[in-house]
Amino acid sequence: MILPKLAVDAVILSQQELAADVFRMVVEAPAIASQAEPGQFVQLRLLTGSFVLRRPVGIAEVDEKKGTISFIYRVVGKGTKAFSELVNGEVVNVLGPLGHGFDMTAHHPLIVGGGMGLSPVLLYAAAMQGRADVLMGGKTADELFWEKLYQPVTGQIFCTTDDGSRGTKGFTTTLLPKLLQDNAYDLIVACGPEIMMKGIARIAREHGIRCQVSLEKRMGCGLGACLSCSIDTTNGQRKKVCKDGPVFESGEVFA
Ligand SMILES: Cc1cc2nc3c(=O)[nH]c(=O)nc-3n(C[C@H](O)[C@H](O)[C@H](O)COP(=O)(O)OP(=O)(O)OC[C@H]3O[C@@H](n4cnc5c(N)ncnc54)[C@H](O)[C@@H]3O)c2cc1C
Ligand code: FES
Repeated sequence: MILPKLAVDAVILSQQELAADVFRMVVEAPAIASQAEPGQFVQLRLLTGSFVLRRPVGIAEVDEKKGTISFIYRVVGKGTKAFSELVNGEVVNVLGPLGHGFDMTAHHPLIVGGGMGLSPVLLYAAAMQGRADVLMGGKTADELFWEKLYQPVTGQIFCTTDDGSRGTKGFTTTLLPKLLQDNAYDLIVACGPEIMMKGIARIAREHGIRCQVSLEKRMGCGLGACLSCSIDTTNGQRKKVCKDGPVFESGEVFA
């Protein structure tokens, strides 16, 4: 069922710095909390200052009982800097939930995430209630603060770091072939830098395992109207990341 999109003024209940320049914002938005599906996102708008465009951010956590949703975001520019300066009790406008999320029918999925890509897949991990394992990659051990967020909601956690300071030295693509050999995964869900997702998609194809990827594009409306997030798919069709995605079958977007 396609439900109407909601734009609500949501009160900020907490802001916490999880790591350098990475924040978790919890807001009160019961109607969005009751509709949100893993992989969907929202568009946030500040009610003060001169910000016209909304900023897209994945829904990282949902507590339906409390009516709250949370976002985990990195400060990269003016908009995210302004979000990080909001304090408890202030209000942010939240439009969502937007887009299409992950397939929820897998029995034993593997989540592969790199950097801030680990944020939207956290909700997928929680929804899988321990059936999902996760392979997370970062440059250094410090970037894998995600482990403590995933521990309560996932099965096994595998880590890779570029410098070998935590887990296997290398990239997520270094360890993935061994994990696919040793475990009977029926779906890979990937979110992170595009180069990582392309590599994951290629390895999944070689092992005959279905793979879904969550794409990021610069967005305007978030509703399929402005075309700013259009992409070419492998069969030559144009699709909009905000409306047709952000989650796609990997073969649809990576040759
Ligand atoms: C569907 C979707 C979900 C997202 N979920 C998250 C999330 O959960 N956590 C998170 O930290 N970020 C997420 N992002 C990225 C986030 O939207 C951008 O970092 C943010 O809009 C930047 O705004 P700004 O004003 O701070 O930066 P700007 O001043 O607009 O830009 C600063 C830098 O960020 C880059 N940037 C801007 N917009 C995007 C974008 N859409 N994607 C990638 N890079 C961008 C720019 O190229 C520039 O280098 C998501 C993006 C999309 C499309
Ligand atoms: S952001 Fe406007 S069409 Fe996707």
